[in-house]
Amino acid sequence: MVESHRERSFIMIKPDGVQRGKVGEIISRFEKKGFKMVAMNMTAASKAHIEEHYDEHRERPFFPPLVSFMTSGPVVAMVWEGHNVIKTGRKMIGATNPDNADPGTVRFDTAINFRKQIIHASDSKESAEKEINLWFKSGVVDWKHHSEEWIYEV
Ligand code: CDP
Ligand code: MG
Repeated sequence: MVESHRERSFIMIKPDGVQRGKVGEIISRFEKKGFKMVAMNMTAASKAHIEEHYDEHRERPFFPPLVSFMTSGPVVAMVWEGHNVIKTGRKMIGATNPDNADPGTVRFDTAINFRKQIIHASDSKESAEKEINLWFKSGVVDWKHHSEEWIYEV
């Protein structure tokens, strides 16, 4: 397989997305596009785990309320694989502030608030690697999608 088809991104449905019943819709959007799920886990993440996930924001004023929100209920952690999935995943979720997100994106279509906007997606190869290692310590599932040859030129 072409190496770029193996790119992986960490995608997480935040507690508001779980509570508001968006799990199926979000999985569906990534499946429809042709990406392949290679890991999924529903979990109530600990404070320390969320702090590690959002380590880059530790000094920001919104860090404590963000951690509190992210530990207020279960999240669905996933890894999706496919060509350019990191950049495309960010496009699919939309801008951080739903006010600035484009129609058709998850955040525009399902959220209003700056903090409670349903979904997280890795923003670079480095953060994807860090986040996948943090959330899926025992690794992801290597499997062949039956319609791979209909999604890519192989
Ligand atoms: O999630 P994304 O990478 O788009 O945004 P970020 O700037 O890395 O911020 C991480 C998360 O912190 C956001 O998704 C929001 O949930 C939250 N946030 C917040 O609560 N208040 C802010 N002023 C900015 C971000
Ligand atoms: Mg970010």
